[in-house]
Amino acid sequence: MPTILVTGGAGFIGSHTCVCLLEAGYDIVVADNFSNSKPEALNRIKKITGKDFKFYECDLLDLEAVKKIFAENSIDAVIHFAGYKAVGESVAQPVKYYHNNITGTLMLIKAMQEYGCKKIVFSSSATVYGPVNPVPYVEDMPTSATNPYGYTKVMIEQILRDVYVSDSDWSVSLLRYFNPIGAHPSGLIGEDPNGIPNNLLPYICQVAVGKLEKLGVFGNDYDTPDGTGIRDYIHVCDLADGHLCAVKYVLEHKGVEAVNLGTGKGSSVFDVLHSFEKACGKELPYVVKPRRPGDLPSSYANTDKAKKVFGWEAKYDLDQMTADSWNFIKNNPNGL
Ligand code: UFG
Repeated sequence: MPTILVTGGAGFIGSHTCVCLLEAGYDIVVADNFSNSKPEALNRIKKITGKDFKFYECDLLDLEAVKKIFAENSIDAVIHFAGYKAVGESVAQPVKYYHNNITGTLMLIKAMQEYGCKKIVFSSSATVYGPVNPVPYVEDMPTSATNPYGYTKVMIEQILRDVYVSDSDWSVSLLRYFNPIGAHPSGLIGEDPNGIPNNLLPYICQVAVGKLEKLGVFGNDYDTPDGTGIRDYIHVCDLADGHLCAVKYVLEHKGVEAVNLGTGKGSSVFDVLHSFEKACGKELPYVVKPRRPGDLPSSYANTDKAKKVFGWEAKYDLDQMTADSWNFIKNNPNGL
């Protein structure tokens, strides 16, 4: 079976994807610098799968360290998750974001070029659809961004397209994630952000275990059915399965494909909150706050291309996602 290098493999989506790859019989090599993840995630991946793998504690900015991974392993393809992802922090510290996400990716591509590895699956984001495109988002819409984090995704997509233009042996899959939530059904791995969470589900989880007092609902005056923001939440295990399809695809094809990974279904903040309340069996306090700057009323995917190109579609519904999020946080109230 091919060997896949997973950068950011200890992170939320990375760890679930490692489980999927190992269960499908791939060999994996994981690289992570634990900037927003913990070594325990790697033990948990081994526990779930009963399989071992090689790990490098490595910062992608360190080109020599990245080259060493390729020198010591025969890597067939790369899944590149590693990167900073907090929108607000990227506005406050743009240079940190551009340096880490863009330069880190450039170092990875340089090492890949030197070792003749030309297959990559990249963690892009629905954020590249920017503020102007109408929903549902379709892959051939023009891309843009509203913050440095989003621009790193737009720019890295462009860099990878340009690499392909320069060498048509490359195979690039740009996966545009919608809003990943949920956790592995074992409750052993899940989302474990540092500090006070920015995203909806991790915040609700902290309220549910009594670590935060109440959820702030960012705006109830949007032009949506209940006035709160609509997002396309997707179970992280569905997302991980989408990466498996993308890896198979890049191993067998050349070219560049941008593909949405979403369910195609929008849920409101209150839909998510109430679904979570059902899962944990208690009411959770909330307060309506002003809109968060930069938030869009509505974001959801057109999922036709994923079906057509990968034969993939999401299987889990919102209640399954919130049940698995609750199961993880209940078992790991202090994270990993
Ligand atoms: N929300 C709240 N309260 C909170 C947190 C979020 O009401 O405490 C609301 C937001 O206003 C939004 C929805 O919940 O309507 C989802 O917000 P998240 O922060 O969970 O997710 P976003 O859609 O804002 O962001 C996600 C990813 C980003 C990505 C973006 C666009 O986290 O990486 O989607 O694709 F850029």
